[in-house]
Amino acid sequence: MANDRETERLDKYICSVTSFTRSVLGKEIRKRGASLNGKQIKDPSVKVREGDVIEIAGMEITVSLKPVYLMMNKPAGVVSANSDDSYDTVFSLLPERYARCHCVGRLDIDTEGLLLITDDGQWSHMITSPAKGVRKVYRAVLASDFSDEAVSRIRNGIELRGEKEPAFAEVTKVGPLTWDFAVTEGRYHEIKRIAAAAGSSVTALRRLSIGALSLDESLAPGMYRELDANEILLPLANGSSSDEDGRGS
Ligand code: URA
Repeated sequence: MANDRETERLDKYICSVTSFTRSVLGKEIRKRGASLNGKQIKDPSVKVREGDVIEIAGMEITVSLKPVYLMMNKPAGVVSANSDDSYDTVFSLLPERYARCHCVGRLDIDTEGLLLITDDGQWSHMITSPAKGVRKVYRAVLASDFSDEAVSRIRNGIELRGEKEPAFAEVTKVGPLTWDFAVTEGRYHEIKRIAAAAGSSVTALRRLSIGALSLDESLAPGMYRELDANEILLPLANGSSSDEDGRGS
């Protein structure tokens, strides 16, 4: 996990938490100036520290150099990206101070549920790297139920169109037309493609957990909260790490 940085350049920090680009910011500082802890400054390269207060272009920014770890209950209709030409992104649901962060993997625009957001690249790499085999559980509502034969094809490895390697999932029926899928790879549209290869289709999809971290069900869609120190470790602790068929994950 990332160590806290003690200092950062003023211009780099402001750009990471606002929509300023370095060149526009440089001009703004030279023309109108900025203040750091109440003192006027003209040098964009001065170093800022935790708790410093910057005033620029009518904004007051309190410096926080601690790494950020958030969970969001992603709603349908927003893209898991920092920017998009056509749709709102999950960052439109967050204060601007989180602009420096990124999504830990992606959920489709119509998928809901647990999305992690951070500025700690090492942490997100460990969670998304296929080599780490972090187990993700999704709840899918299907257009038609799986047959027993489809279930065993999925458990034993099902061929996906255009891919050489079969995809594996542990699937469990949890309600009418409703199935939980546990996967460890994170392939593109993985759950929808597995369902399609097994002769059905997904009508609603929600991610419930990543490793041993479950979605906080008290978060309404679109809401988010910070993870506590213990929760930060949970995505990398594969809670239920053995599947019924012994494949593990
Ligand atoms: N699998 C999908 O098909 N979609 C998602 O958003 C996540 C996993």
